[in-house]
Amino acid sequence: MDHTSRPRNKIGVVLCVFFICWCVMIHNVKWYDLSSPITAFRHQGNPVEIVHTNTTLPAAAGSEISITGNNDRGDDKKNSDGEINWLKDAPQLEALEKELEPVLKKFKPKPMEKKKKNKPMEEKRKQKSHDRRVNETTIEKVAEQMEEHRSRHRVTKRSCSGRYIYVHDLPARFNDDILDDCRSFNKWQNMCPSLENNGLGPPLVNPQRVLSRSGWYSTNQFLLEVIFRNRMKQYECLTNDSSIASAIYVPYYAGLDISRYLFDHNTSSRDALSLDLAEWLRERPEWETASGKNHFLVIGRITWDFRRDPDDDDAWGSKLMSLPEFKNMTILTIEKSPWHSNDFGIPYPTYFHPGSDHDVVEWQMKMRRHRRRALFSFAGAPRPGMEDSIREKIIDQCLASAPKCRLLQCSYYNLKCYQPIDVMRLFKNSVFCLQPPGDSFTRRSTFDSILAGCIPVFFTPGSAYIQYLWHLPRDFHKYSVLINEEDVQHKNVSIEQVLSQIPTTKVSEMRDQVIRLIPHVVYADPKSKLEKFKDAFDLSVDGVVDRMDRLNKSAWSVDDFEEKWSWKYLLFGSVGKHDWDDYFRFSRNQKVKKSDIEDN
Ligand SMILES: *[C@@H]1O[C@H](CO)[C@@H](O)[C@H](O)[C@H]1NC(C)=O
Ligand SMILES: *[C@@H]1O[C@H](CO)[C@@H](O)[C@H](O)[C@H]1NC(C)=O
Ligand SMILES: *[C@@H]1O[C@H](CO)[C@@H](O)[C@H](O)[C@H]1NC(C)=O
Ligand SMILES: *[C@@H]1O[C@H](CO)[C@@H](O)[C@H](O)[C@H]1NC(C)=O
Ligand SMILES: *[C@@H]1O[C@H](CO)[C@@H](O)[C@H](O)[C@H]1NC(C)=O
Ligand SMILES: *[C@@H]1O[C@H](CO)[C@@H](O)[C@H](O)[C@H]1NC(C)=O
Ligand SMILES: *[C@@H]1O[C@H](CO)[C@@H](O)[C@H](O)[C@H]1NC(C)=O
Repeated sequence: MDHTSRPRNKIGVVLCVFFICWCVMIHNVKWYDLSSPITAFRHQGNPVEIVHTNTTLPAAAGSEISITGNNDRGDDKKNSDGEINWLKDAPQLEALEKELEPVLKKFKPKPMEKKKKNKPMEEKRKQKSHDRRVNETTIEKVAEQMEEHRSRHRVTKRSCSGRYIYVHDLPARFNDDILDDCRSFNKWQNMCPSLENNGLGPPLVNPQRVLSRSGWYSTNQFLLEVIFRNRMKQYECLTNDSSIASAIYVPYYAGLDISRYLFDHNTSSRDALSLDLAEWLRERPEWETASGKNHFLVIGRITWDFRRDPDDDDAWGSKLMSLPEFKNMTILTIEKSPWHSNDFGIPYPTYFHPGSDHDVVEWQMKMRRHRRRALFSFAGAPRPGMEDSIREKIIDQCLASAPKCRLLQCSYYNLKCYQPIDVMRLFKNSVFCLQPPGDSFTRRSTFDSILAGCIPVFFTPGSAYIQYLWHLPRDFHKYSVLINEEDVQHKNVSIEQVLSQIPTTKVSEMRDQVIRLIPHVVYADPKSKLEKFKDAFDLSVDGVVDRMDRLNKSAWSVDDFEEKWSWKYLLFGSVGKHDWDDYFRFSRNQKVKKSDIEDN
């Protein structure tokens, strides 16, 4: 397996050796098991990556670079500036946190400086990566065959009958005008550059080939509304005749609207545009048909930003979801409420927006053959203000399990502490990625980890299983691990132990499943469309159309189950006693509300 010396005339032999290696990789050998963990980790100067403030990141996990070694960066970079007085700054930090959750900050990418390294290493690396690419045509052919064989969601030429969508032509104050206000979307960061490229943000550069060749952007997690609307413009079954439409799309940027007023504004500012829109819709002829029940809306923020108790002026967010008009509509959001029946979870946008099937297959291949050196990893911040948060426990366990666990810890003084590149590098080098809840159940990070072929580890079914019913398989054991939040919090369950006891073959199967999910959780570039795969947009539209079809057949009658059991009913089709009842007994959002009041 030593590729260092390679006389040119022996290239055939080398290709042969490479091909064998590649076959082994393709069959999902667990690489970190091939060498003992000690060997695998010995050379890494600083596997635990604690990132403070505006330190330039050391090339974190090394990825393709330090295969055998000499990682001389790191230790000196682990500085101690950026210490935070958590108690003193708590209120401000918590407010900021809401804006950041799940804390993976995006900002304009800057090209990484070239790392100094000794020459032989550089050449060795180049040679190695060259070898891995020798016959891309073959690789891609195999990939396509595999995908062909496996993909459950093949797109074939479908008739538009039964899936026409009518798009409301809203006055610009409900969408385009809001974008003009981009400076006020975020107090701490200028989000205007994120609007570029139809909402995908600025293109990402690709240092050390962490990413694949095309389709990568520094996407802000709150821009789903814009991306979705731009995708909708390309939808193949649009109609101007609302009478044949299965669903009516309301392209209101509710999340961006509220983000202007979340922190320092009174409730009348926060509710103004929602009330305005409710009135506008009610007066349209299209509303009549089904009292708005064939309407849907896409919101790029979590549901809790819109569920203010209408009578409580001090509480968090707007009351959009309490308005009767919006209660009749179907609302797609990055985090739904387990206790309400008209919102549906759809994936957070990730950094990857493939422009073609080929972009997807290329990335999947890269992830299938990528060597993963860490057993598990965590990227995120602690929650010092939340007494029940398991983040501290997770971070402690990760530190104790180093070097098998890698930590990318963020601090608040520096908004730039995470670059997409560093997050992707960490995740693609890890077998498992921990996804503990923060202030709310879900995290964008879940989708970043799926994208990187890293098996997500959840601590509550609220983080994904009850959320993304249209996008993730119901058989969650096949692509993820669930470790009970309570067990980590109170029973000192060792995450490392749980994860290392999963048999190698099972791990390979799970990773394979995760990698097959990639096309279903990414939003393709609105400028183009995938042919073979259904992306997150396609699956969302299918979900909406199916739901409208069911509602239409039942004459738009209300759901025949008690709304508070929505999480259970929508997932299992019944509301009987369930093992997961405990997870949803206490309402996380109530708590968020309470802490806001205390802070103010
Ligand atoms: C960030 O770096 C600059 C220069 O490198 C320094 O002046 C500044 O104090 C740093 N900011 C923080 C918050 O550490
Ligand atoms: C790659 O493989 C294909 C068929 O498997 C072959 O036609 C092609 O010549 C190969 N390319 C290289 C560069 O070896
Ligand atoms: C709907 O009408 C608008 C304006 O009249 C037109 O530009 C658009 O192409 C029409 N769309 C469809 C799907 O017919
Ligand atoms: C809310 O704030 C807006 C603008 O800041 C102001 O015009 C309005 O009077 C305020 N409303 C109430 C009820 O305080
Ligand atoms: C919502 O739907 C119900 C019927 O289920 C209807 O009675 C009610 O008027 C609708 N609300 C609005 C604001 O249209
Ligand atoms: C938790 O378990 C670890 C080892 O598994 C042990 O070192 C530690 O003391 C335990 N902590 C508590 C509070 O029981
Ligand atoms: C269901 O849809 C069909 C076709 O669009 C329509 O004719 C029918 O009236 C709808 N049913 C109800 C109850 O709205």
